[in-house]
Amino acid sequence: MSEQVLHPIIRSHTIIGAQIVSNLPGFEKAPSLILDHHEYWNGHGYPRARKGKEIVAGAQLIRAADTFDTILQTNPDKTLSEIMKNMKELVNKEFNKSVFSSLKKIMSDNNFFHDLVDAQKLPGLLFRLRDEIPANGIDDRTDILGTSLDIFGQIIDSKHAYTAGHSKRVSQYSLLIAISMNLPHDEVTKIKWAGLVHDIGKVAIPPAILDKASELSEDEYTLLRKHTVYTEEILETVSCMKELVPMAAAHHERFDGNGYHRKLKGEDIPLGARILAVADSFDSITSLRGYRDTGLIPLAIDEMKNVSRKQFDPDVVEAAIPIFQSL
Ligand SMILES: [Fe+2]
Ligand SMILES: [Fe+2]
Repeated sequence: MSEQVLHPIIRSHTIIGAQIVSNLPGFEKAPSLILDHHEYWNGHGYPRARKGKEIVAGAQLIRAADTFDTILQTNPDKTLSEIMKNMKELVNKEFNKSVFSSLKKIMSDNNFFHDLVDAQKLPGLLFRLRDEIPANGIDDRTDILGTSLDIFGQIIDSKHAYTAGHSKRVSQYSLLIAISMNLPHDEVTKIKWAGLVHDIGKVAIPPAILDKASELSEDEYTLLRKHTVYTEEILETVSCMKELVPMAAAHHERFDGNGYHRKLKGEDIPLGARILAVADSFDSITSLRGYRDTGLIPLAIDEMKNVSRKQFDPDVVEAAIPIFQSL
């Protein structure tokens, strides 16, 4: 693919990815691998047009795996040998010879390829590989789940100017409200995490709708509202996040039962979701294109009071107002 025709957003995903993962403890080598994973051996890649040995070695492995997968996804009927033929043509262009040799070696084990493309067998293959790979030295005491969710939040927030920092702030506001309501520590932690991923379903909403400056049409609004369904579906697929589903998926339910997507009412809405709803709405009013405007705080507080009991749980609003006033 010619580097000139790439949209700047596509070109920058390597840089943004490297920045985001640089916060993950135990993954100190990952940022440079991500940064270089679209560099080509012949120097025609991006973002820095690095060439040959200037490219971090591991990034070349990702490059080859990425292309292998793209060929497979776009031509699901291709046989392994046909894909390998396509890959061979890219040697010394996209990746070097030794990367191709490694790929050939792995794929010579036919079971590996069959397990890889079989959704039923893939988890088993991943677990087997995980056991074979030496430990990466991550300290067990590290709050790895919390940090990973934090990174998820950054990924969601970095997608759109409108939502920059939104997940992080919703998480922080929700945490403070939960603490001030004297909730147990475990519950507080879950609410904080659910705040980070509550809008993860927005990744499935077209950017043209999320970024639209003018008012949305009825159809567009219907689609936007589906993001809570997608949040539910995405989190359901990750075992350690399942616990967050009831809270995260219900953050647009209203106390009077007129919200979405299940039209839950009153205390049928999980308390964590009632807290997220207040934090979410407060952040939407006080943030413009991702930048907080503290001048809007009194307006947001008035709005919270006005719709308390209709949109929001009045107990949550009562706990939240002193926090919002002190921001
Ligand atoms: Fe939302
Ligand atoms: Fe939100």
